[in-house]
Order: sequence, then structure tokens, then C-alpha cells
Amino acid sequence: MANTDPKRVTTATSNTVEETPNLHTFLTANKSLKNREYIPLFSKFINYLKGQHIYTYCRKVLTPQSREVTIWDANTAENRKMIMFASNNYLGMANSPYMKKKVTEAMDKYGAGLAGPPLLNGYTSLMSELEERLARLKHQEAAMIFSSGYGANLGMLVALAQENDHILYDELSHASLFDGMRMTQVPATKFAHNDLVDLEAKLAQLSKTTKDTLFVAVEGVYSMDGDLAPLDKIVPLVKKYGGFILLDDAHGTGVLGKSGSGTAEHFGVEKQIDLSMGTFSKSFAMTGGFLAGPKELIDYMRFFARSYMFSAALTPVTLAAVLAGIDVIEREPALRDVLLDNARYAIKKLQPFGVISKPEAAIIALKVPDWMDVRKANQFIHEQGIFLNSIEYPAVPEGEERFRISITVEHTRADIDKLAEVLRLAWDSPIVKK
Ligand SMILES: Cc1ncc(COP(=O)(O)O)c(C=O)c1O
Repeated sequence: MANTDPKRVTTATSNTVEETPNLHTFLTANKSLKNREYIPLFSKFINYLKGQHIYTYCRKVLTPQSREVTIWDANTAENRKMIMFASNNYLGMANSPYMKKKVTEAMDKYGAGLAGPPLLNGYTSLMSELEERLARLKHQEAAMIFSSGYGANLGMLVALAQENDHILYDELSHASLFDGMRMTQVPATKFAHNDLVDLEAKLAQLSKTTKDTLFVAVEGVYSMDGDLAPLDKIVPLVKKYGGFILLDDAHGTGVLGKSGSGTAEHFGVEKQIDLSMGTFSKSFAMTGGFLAGPKELIDYMRFFARSYMFSAALTPVTLAAVLAGIDVIEREPALRDVLLDNARYAIKKLQPFGVISKPEAAIIALKVPDWMDVRKANQFIHEQGIFLNSIEYPAVPEGEERFRISITVEHTRADIDKLAEVLRLAWDSPIVKK
């Protein structure tokens, strides 16, 4: 069991033991330090968390990602079986025999790696085939594949946005969009999350003042809240003001829409998205990302998206796995029904624990109550055999800490019941109090 007195840590300002800061407090308290003196202090901070047994990052997983995993528990120095609710392996592809067969075949046929970017030696027949399949899945003319979804968002903005443009974005956008905006240095304005009134007010104002393109960046399924962007309303609004829609559908691809295309298809606006972005790190349970859009634009971006041009191509085995994943999405629509059924069941069970917003896909976020210490609580939950992600700053603002639950097709009702039971124990336990 975790030490129940985790309220003390060495900080820069006093070098004495004080209230345990969260990451935000720690960095704020120490940001004025010169010569990277905050690095050894940060190391102390992390070691403190480990010493108190309230460090649930980088847990060493020993088995394939599945509904149940075995991890090496550093606190007890033993293996521990856990029910996995932290993996975005929504469709259970991570360890699917079909994916593994396709990966083995690709390894035999094409070898292990490529050692180069797509523009040079790294463009393979598998990559070309996958680009065509992705373009079709997204109802677009063409697609290009990046080594990560993060890189796809960076490359997209760096290649597209110019000084006379403006980027209007939902305030809950993923870090990769923020980092891409930082790299372009193009003026950007946020609108309140999913707030159509705020969006329209800003569209009306910016469409008058923006000299060139007004880009509007939204996500299909928001990664930290699990709610959908109302694209049936957002898309016509953006079009009304002549904006260009960038849709990051990392969490909707394979999960939503009649054909599994994603959130735009779910809302019937798939043909009106100007540029679609997606990742292979969620439903496909692999790594990599992609952009899908008009052919001319994609051809251009191959030479101007720097994260594409200057980064090595995905390996044949990864491409083969994602191709197999598209087969599964196309051939097994029932998987999406099972997944969304599981998610609905879980949402009902988890209502007493402060479900944030209205989850409509496979992510459920639970607000951490003010009285609860998120790290102690996650350690408690860990010790009951449930693997959850606790989300803190900088992934969410300070005070918005949450547990993020990823539901998959592999979860049984008994798994979800067990999750609810453990959360009840945590919510009732004095151990998890601040
Ligand atoms: C909404 C969103 N966009 C982009 C990314 C980045 O994707 P990747 O993990 O493939 O780099 C993520 C991953 O967390 C995400 O949730």
C-alpha cells in the first residue's frame, strides 16, 4: 500500500520538505532558476514520488496490450495482472491474430526496416497501397503517411499556414496542434470548446480581417473529454465564413461512422472536410499518422511538411498492420457496435464518479474531486488491479485533473463492473484524500 503521508517534497525555493506540488506548481516555483538547476530538482521530485509509491508513470508492461496485461510492479518487485483501461486499442487490434499474420508476411517479404524517408528510399508499395486505402476511408482524393500523428499535425501547419493566414482553434486541441502553431508563428485565436456562439462570433470577425486563409482546427473526438465536435453544425458555419477545415480525427477513425471513416461520416459531412488528419496509434494500435485531402495539396505537402520530408518512413510491418486494420474496419462493422455498447454500459456504471461532458465515443473522463489526491488515488486503483491513466498538467490545466478511461471491444461487462467497484472503493477510502 502507498505511504499515506505524501505531502512533503524538496522544492527549489526552500530546499526543505513542503506540500507535494503538482507538476505545474513545481515548474512555476522553479522556472526562474538558471543553468538548468531545475533538472536535478525535478529528478528529486520524481524520486520523491517513487519513494512514496505514488508514481504510476512508465509502468513496465510484460504482455501484449489486451483487456488484461501483466506488468512488472516496481513497488512490490513482483509481476501484477491488471485490467487495462488506459490503452487506445479500441478495436482490439494490438494482439489480433490477423494483424500478426499480416505483419509476419510483410516481414518475410519486405524485411524489417527501410532506413530512410519516403521522398528518398522509404516509399514502398505497401505505403502507396495504404495511402490509397486511407484516402478512400476518409472520402478524400489522396493521403500521405507520417511517422507519427504528432508529426502529421506539425507538418500540416508548417506546410500550410503563412503569415497572412489565421488559425482559429478549439481551446481543447491536442498538444501537437499547439506545437505546430508555435512553429508556424501564424496568428492564432482560440474559441471556447465546442461553443458555436463563440465560434461564429470569431469567424465573423476574423473572416473580415484575415488577408488569406482562415483555418479552423477541430477534433472529431476530444482526447481529454471524450465528447464529439458537433461537425454537422461546425462545418456549415465555417463554410459560411469561407474558412478551411482541419479535422484531427485521431480518436474517431475506426470508431465512428457507418464505414468506420470517423466523426465527419458520423455527422454526414465527410465530403466537406478540407483536410483530414488521423493517427495509427489508437484504433490501429500501431504508430504513425496521416493527412488526407485534395491530391494537389498532398503532392505539395510531401515537399513542404518538414516532419514528412526529414523523418524516416514507417516500417513495412507497421504499414502491413495498418492495412490489415483497414480490412478489419471494413469487414467487421459489428466491432463498432460492440465498442459503443461497451462504452454506453461503462458510462452508465461510472456516472456516480463525475463523468466529464457527454462521452459519445470510447473515451470516458472522470473529474478528480477537489478533496482527492490524484496520484494517491491512482496508486490505490493500481493496487486493486486496474490500469488507469491519471491526467495532470500539462495535458490538462491545473485543477482539471482527471482519470481517463479507454474502453475497447475486448472489455467484458465483468471488467467494467470491476472498474466501477474499484472506483467506489477509491472514492470511499480515506487513503486517497489530499
Ligand atoms: C487528438 C490527437 N491528435 C494527435 C495525436 C498524436 O498522435 P500520435 O500518438 O500518433 O503521435 C494524439 C495522440 O495522443 C491525439 O489524441
